[in-house]
Amino acid sequence: MEVLQSKQDLRNWIRDRRGRERTLVPTMGALHRGHTSLIDLARETTPENDIVATIFVNPTQFGPNEDFDSYPRQLEDDLALCETHGASAVFTPAAGEMYEKDASISIHESALSHRLCGASRPGHFDGVCTVVAKLFLLTQPSTALFGEKDFQQLAVLRRLVRDLDFPIEIIPGPTVRDADGLAMSSRNAYLSEEERAHAPIIFAALSRVARGIAEGRLESPLEAVAELTREIESAPPARIDYLEIVDSITLEALTDFKNTTPRLLAAVFFGQTRLIDNVGLPALNA
Ligand code: PAF
Repeated sequence: MEVLQSKQDLRNWIRDRRGRERTLVPTMGALHRGHTSLIDLARETTPENDIVATIFVNPTQFGPNEDFDSYPRQLEDDLALCETHGASAVFTPAAGEMYEKDASISIHESALSHRLCGASRPGHFDGVCTVVAKLFLLTQPSTALFGEKDFQQLAVLRRLVRDLDFPIEIIPGPTVRDADGLAMSSRNAYLSEEERAHAPIIFAALSRVARGIAEGRLESPLEAVAELTREIESAPPARIDYLEIVDSITLEALTDFKNTTPRLLAAVFFGQTRLIDNVGLPALNA
C-alpha cells in the first residue's frame, strides 16, 4: 500500500498505474469499523479497481467553536487498518497541501444544506462539498463510497455529483453499529460512561418508530415524531437537537406518508457530544 502526502505524489502514482480505475473512500481518519466496512464494500463492489482511501481532517467543514483541534488523530493506526482492509493507496495531505493560504473559491450548496445538521453547523456542507470536489479532481475515481450514517452528507454529495457532472458513481455504505445498536462514530469516544450507556436509545427509538409507521400504527409524521421525542426524552442525559421524518432524496419534512420513501433522522446531544443517526423505510404507497 502506497502512502501519498503530496498532490504531486498522488498524480505520479495515478500516472504510473495508467489504465486502472479507482474507487475513492474519503475519511477524516480515526478509523473504526464504519470506515473499514467502506473499504471492504469497495473491494466487493469494484474488485477490479484500485482503492484510494483519503485521511484528511478538513478544516473548512468545522465551525469556529467545533472540535477541529481536538478531533482524534491516529495516523499510524489508521494506515495499518487501511492496509489490512486492502486499500491500494492512502492520500493523507497536510492542510497546507490541500488549501492555498489565500484560497478564495469554494462550493456552495443551497437547497439541502441549511436545515437539519446544517442549521447548527453553518458552512459545514459547503466545506464538505469543497473538499470532496477537490478529492474527486485529485483522485479521479469512477466510484466513491460514503456512509449512510451521515445521511444528509450523502444526499448533498449526490447533488454535488449531479449538478457539477462528476462522472462518478456514489455507493452508500450501511451504518455499522455496536452490539447495542449505537452507530459507530469517531465522536463516540467523547461520551462519558453514563452518556454511552444511554446513547443506544437513539437507534432503539428510530427503529421502534419506523416499525410503527410500516405497520400503520403511526399514521402521520406528526404522530411519529411525537413518539420519537417521548422515547428519546426518556433517557435523562439526552437533549434533542432535531428529530425529523423527511423525503429520502429532497430531505424535505414529510407532512404525510402517502407515496413517500421516508427517512427518520435524529441528532441528539449527550453532554457536549452531538450524535446523529437515521433509519430508512421502504417506499410507502397510498
Ligand atoms: O464523512 C466524513 O468523514 C467527511 O465529511 C468527508 C466526506 C471525508 C469529507 O471531509
